[in-house]
Amino acid sequence: MKRRSERGGEAAARPDGSQGKGLGGAAAGALQPAAGGLLAYLQKFKIKRLLLDLFILYASVPFVIRLFPSLLRKFVYLNFLSYPFGVDFQKPEVYLNHTVNFYLTPEPGVTYGVWHSLPDSRRKEAEGKDPSWHEEALADDNPVILYLHGNGGNRAMSHRVRMAKVMSDADFHVLAIDYRGYGDSTGDPSETGFTTDVLFLYHWVKARSGNSTVIVWGHSLGTGIATNVARALKEKEGVTVDAVILEAPFTNIREAAATIPVTKIYRKFPGFEYLILDTMARADMYFYSDRNVQVLSSPILMLHSEDDGIIPITHSRKLFEIARNTSQKKDAIRFLSFPASEGYGHDHLSSNPELPDIVKARTKNRHETEDDRSPPWDLQFLSFRSPLHTGRVRWVYG
Ligand SMILES: *[C@@H]1O[C@H](CO)[C@@H](O)[C@H](O)[C@H]1NC(C)=O
Ligand SMILES: *[C@@H]1O[C@H](CO)[C@@H](O)[C@H](O)[C@H]1NC(C)=O
Ligand SMILES: *[C@@H]1O[C@H](CO)[C@@H](O)[C@H](O)[C@H]1NC(C)=O
Repeated sequence: MKRRSERGGEAAARPDGSQGKGLGGAAAGALQPAAGGLLAYLQKFKIKRLLLDLFILYASVPFVIRLFPSLLRKFVYLNFLSYPFGVDFQKPEVYLNHTVNFYLTPEPGVTYGVWHSLPDSRRKEAEGKDPSWHEEALADDNPVILYLHGNGGNRAMSHRVRMAKVMSDADFHVLAIDYRGYGDSTGDPSETGFTTDVLFLYHWVKARSGNSTVIVWGHSLGTGIATNVARALKEKEGVTVDAVILEAPFTNIREAAATIPVTKIYRKFPGFEYLILDTMARADMYFYSDRNVQVLSSPILMLHSEDDGIIPITHSRKLFEIARNTSQKKDAIRFLSFPASEGYGHDHLSSNPELPDIVKARTKNRHETEDDRSPPWDLQFLSFRSPLHTGRVRWVYG
């Protein structure tokens, strides 16, 4: 019916050809600028549409996160980004010399990978030796670092490899773990799972390391795991970890989310606390270093670069204050800040040539410090040759 009437309309218009033409001519004349305007309008509309889409995306993220806390977990752990890609974890020598790969199973269903870099002084001997020789080497009196990496990537990431190299060159054993869900490790990532993994590694090492100092060293997200582990050892087993090193730490994950630059665009979002910050707990993510350090009696060394663009140095300042306020041995709590001019950022404290000496001076083997009756990490360090004078590092006291 409609078609017909249209046709009818068309037919009716036909007799008045001249008028039609005239109109058409006028329309054609008007069409040029109109088409330009239309195009501009469409373009504007597209941009508006794009902006609208972006806004909707921006605005829906907090709600989606609130509804699905597991998404937030993925976003925080970033374990699915197993960078660098295509690593053959069985061949650590591609990345690090005198390093072996091994696996541990802390509980059924979870097997995680570890790279053990030997002290450089044992490099020659280590050639061609089997895994059991490397295990025995842990008792050689060189200090042992359990290196707990941050979120994202795996144990082959360049800044992690660099830290392992620097510290093993300085005659530390370095054991770099990929917690469950990272790298070639199996299992699902979770805060309690990470803590379980590292506790298991700690016991495995202690069973082999004799009198050697064992340092629990966390970087970034790993600092939260480090303090969880040290606290669990203290409270459940009465064990005091020889030393805890916190590289670019944060007070707890909620405060971190509220202050790290990444979340800046949501800071003013209505309901940011409820939608995002509260969801941290719903996703079982706490990383309460601020609570943990109050319980510990271990020496703690905090390291933070003033130009850290991921976790602001204010986190270390606060954590340091909390730890020092509550510690029975205030001298055992140290905070070393690195000037922004050095440009170490979040990941490159290993570039500081003094770092290994600083750590070594703070982590004498226990029987040595017991012999000279001075507490570990005590004021003897004030006479230590360089850091107070070179300007490359800066001690911060309360
Ligand atoms: C291992 O050591 C050799 C000899 O010092 C060196 O040429 C090579 O670059 C090192 N490999 C790695 C991955 O550091
Ligand atoms: C550890 O130190 C104690 C006391 O100095 C010593 O008796 C013991 O033999 C040492 N153990 C090992 C494995 O070196
Ligand atoms: C540490 O103690 C001082 C003095 O008692 C206090 O002013 C400060 O607020 C405390 N800091 C923290 C982070 O608890």
